[in-house]
Amino acid sequence: MKPPTWIQILAASCLLVAAPVYANETIARETGCLACHAVDKRVVGKAYRDVAAKYRANPFAATIIRYKVRNGTGNNKPVPMPAFDKKALSDADLTAIIAWILKQ
Ligand code: HEC
Repeated sequence: MKPPTWIQILAASCLLVAAPVYANETIARETGCLACHAVDKRVVGKAYRDVAAKYRANPFAATIIRYKVRNGTGNNKPVPMPAFDKKALSDADLTAIIAWILKQ
């Protein structure tokens, strides 16, 4: 294999820097979370900024959110949140989304 050119090295480093910022939002979008949630306002589900504020001080935040996403929630709402099983959303992707939500 030929050594990479400077332009390939530049492109790869841009990806490395940009990926952590956008990746988790992308997973949330691709999984369909952003059809019902937005970061800064209620859509069908509440704003992720409000979710982050609610759980920020809670040491069990990640466990609670994981449970709600895996089992569904919001049965008192006009449109409840469906359960996302491991086929719909892998454990690794769910972990990434939870970290992203809690940072909002
Ligand atoms: C069909 C619409 C819909 C989809 C799709 C959806 N949600 Fe929800 N979500 C809701 C509703 C409704 C609630 C109930 C509480 C509320 O009104 O926000 C909720 C609640 C939550 C909560 C709990 C908030 C709390 O206060 O405890 C989290 C976290 C959450 N959603 C994350 C996600 C994630 C992550 C995804 C994608 C895997 C997702 N949601 C997909 C509608 C949805």
